[in-house]
Parts: sequence; structure tokens; C-alpha cells
Amino acid sequence: MTDSLASPAVRLIVRGDLLDFTDDPGFAAPDEAPGVRWREDHRVFVEGGRIVAVLPSDAPLPAGWHGVLEQDHRGHLVLPGFIDTHVHCPQLDVIASYGTELLDWLNTYTFPAERRYADPEVSRVGAERFLHALWAHGTTSAVVFPTVHKVSAEALFERAHAHDMRLITGKVLMNRFAPDGLLDDVEQAEQDCLDLIARWHGQGRQAFAVTVRFAPTSTPEQLVMAGELCRSQPGVYMQTHVAENRSEVKWVSELFPDARSYLDVYDRDGLIGPRAVLAHGIWLDERDRAVLRERGAQIAHCPSSNLFLGSGLFDWAQAQREGLNVSLASDVGGGTSLSMHRNMADAYKIQAMQGTRLSAWKALHTATLGAAQALGLAHEVGRIEPGCMADFAVWKWAQGDVAVHRDKLARDSHGSLHERVFAWMTLGDERNLVRTLVAGQTVFQSPSVV
Ligand code: GUN
Ligand code: ZN
Repeated sequence: MTDSLASPAVRLIVRGDLLDFTDDPGFAAPDEAPGVRWREDHRVFVEGGRIVAVLPSDAPLPAGWHGVLEQDHRGHLVLPGFIDTHVHCPQLDVIASYGTELLDWLNTYTFPAERRYADPEVSRVGAERFLHALWAHGTTSAVVFPTVHKVSAEALFERAHAHDMRLITGKVLMNRFAPDGLLDDVEQAEQDCLDLIARWHGQGRQAFAVTVRFAPTSTPEQLVMAGELCRSQPGVYMQTHVAENRSEVKWVSELFPDARSYLDVYDRDGLIGPRAVLAHGIWLDERDRAVLRERGAQIAHCPSSNLFLGSGLFDWAQAQREGLNVSLASDVGGGTSLSMHRNMADAYKIQAMQGTRLSAWKALHTATLGAAQALGLAHEVGRIEPGCMADFAVWKWAQGDVAVHRDKLARDSHGSLHERVFAWMTLGDERNLVRTLVAGQTVFQSPSVV
């Protein structure tokens, strides 16, 4: 535990080189991309967990700020904390499991691991471990799958609330095609959701998500109930998986022969709205994408998971052309890293395989402001701007001999800022992280990199 956690400072100054975004850089060439905001050597003034001012470091300190604790990170990058829009807390237990595609992977590794979360102590310890792991990767907000057990969602809400962290979750709905110990029923599931909404939705920075695991593991009756929750409970999110894997898509078409498509299974029950977060969406058709655009829903693109499970190559440029909201997500444990750096590097390669170049600007915007906007939270997270919460990550430009060498060449050649940031994004990971702040509190500090 770090010193500032033990004694929270009401006021704080963070100094460093600030990188954030004011607009979507899109798939424009890096030197023509809009929306990039680079503020070298600035001070961020934090009061009560919120940003109150941002000033160049050569500007005089505002009245009343003399003597306030300054975290001096000159020469380091300061970014808004990353937003991971799709990640499974219990799956840290099965990350990097060998040899299967989605449906086998669920049965072989994932379901047995998730059963253990029926135990409140396993859920509590698992939630704490998971949140610390997010912070240790520079992620400060997340949309999270727990398990079917109410207690697993409670544990996440409770631990995130204790740290004033923005978290969106809800107990997983699944009442078929899973082993004993992982099944709910419609009535009890509805009651559990209503209890969780009453206790946690809108409590501090917590928000509830109606969490349908995926179409196969819910009966039509459970999907109707989930749709009713979305309609009747103001402000709740909805999270699920869609069109991730070809065998899964085929199975859904067999289970729901009346639906036009996999997405339609959700849409016809009213699950697709502006607060819907759908993981993957690799195998959607044009009509599906039009539905997502019209509803204002978002696809959580999960690059490392899609590669690891061999699910397919998401066509991000096409989604962009068709006006979809796309965010970035680790999908651990299908994904192999909580690091958004690694996921951005994988996203670059997935687009490269399809003839598109993903700039660091587009990737970083998506992992910060883009996700915040897609979630309707841009007033709170995703930018370093007065009024937003003080959720940041401080990063070293390079860690390790190869990255240090590459960074020095990019810096000394007076090339573009993008060259340097792209090398940082591609070569970096959580080992570059210096400090993470959530609501102005240090929740992670590297013992080795300062
Ligand atoms: N589809 C249904 N459940 C899951 C899951 O846990 N992970 C992934 N990647 N896809 C799913
Ligand atoms: Zn997932």
C-alpha cells in the first residue's frame, strides 16, 4: 500500500507531459489526425479527487496552492487512465490456457474456474486481486463480467466503491448450457439484479449492467426478463458477447431459428440501446451494424482475445466508415493481457492484416476519451480536463534496452511525436507504468521505475 493511500491528500499537483484527446483522430494519417492534445511539462491541479485546473509548469502557482504536495513526473507521460470495456474478473484464474477455441475453452477452463466464485471469500479476494491488477496496468475504469453468483458482483462493487473507482458490472445471467453451480433461474436472477440495482446502481461511481453472458446460455424467457430490466431501470448498462466465433454464430442460429441474426436475438427483446456494450462483433453483417449505429450501442473490440482464441479479424475501418462506436477491451482471460498497450499493439496487427494502419492516436483515443464517450461518461473520465475525475496513469517512455534505444532515436531525430508515441505503444506494457491515480489517490506505484 502506498503512502498517499494511507493519508489521502485533499489537494494534489501532478506534473508531467500530458497526452489526451479532444476529438476522434479516426483512421487519418498520424500527422493529419485531429483531436490530439499534447501539453509538455504541465501541472494538473487536483482537489477532492477531481481536476480543477491544468496549467503550464512555468505559469505561477494559483493562490492557495503553494506548499501543496506535488508529484513531480517531469519527463514522464501522463495519460487519462485506460478504460477497459470488457474484461472478466474471475478469468484471471484461467488466463493463458492452452489449445482451444471459444466453446471448448468455456467448457474446459472457464466454467470450472467461475464455479469457485460461489464462495463469498473467493469472490472478495478475487475482486481485490483483479482491481489491483487493473491499476497495475494503468486501467482506472472498467466494464466487468463477474460470475453468475450475486456475491461476485457485490464483491466487485464493494471493492471498487471503497477505492472510488468507476466500475460497471452486474451478475451474469445464464440459465442453460452450463454446469451445475453456474446456473440461475429467471425469477431468482431478476430478484438478484433488482437487489443489486437498489444497493449499487448510482452509488458513488458504481453502475449496474444487465449482464447476459451470451445468447446460448439464456433461455428466451430470460432474455425477455433482461430486456424488461433494461427498459424499466433508468441508466443501467447492458453487456454481453456477440458474433465472436463462427461455431458460436452457427449454434445461435440453431437455437434461435426465428431471429434474423445473432444480434437480432438481443435486439428483438430490447437489449440494444445506447448503453449496450457488445464484445467482439467480428461476424456481424451490414444490417446488424446499421442496428448498432441506430441504437448508439458500442462494440468492445478485444484484439488479444480474438487472436488467442483464433476467433477472427475485426474490421475496425469498416465499423468506423459505418459510424459504429468501437471501444477497446482486454477480454481477459480469453485475452492474454490486461495491458492496453499489448491490446493496442495487437489491434494494430489485426488492422494491418486487412490493409489498414491504426495510428497510436486512434488507438489511444479509443482506450480513453472514445470509450468514455461511448459509455456516456466523458464528463467524468477519459480526459485531463477540469471537472473530470483525477484518474491518470504516469508512464515511462521506455523500459528495457531495446525500447530505450528506439525511444532515444525517435526523440533525438526530431521526428514526429507520433513516431515516439507509436514506439511506446508498441514496445511498452505495464512495466513502463510509474504510478496510477484513481480519484486523486495513488492506487499503484512502481517500486522499480521512478
Ligand atoms: N462468450 C461467452 N462467454 C464468454 C467468455 O467468457 N469469454 C469470451 N471471450 N467469450 C464468451
Ligand atoms: Zn468476454
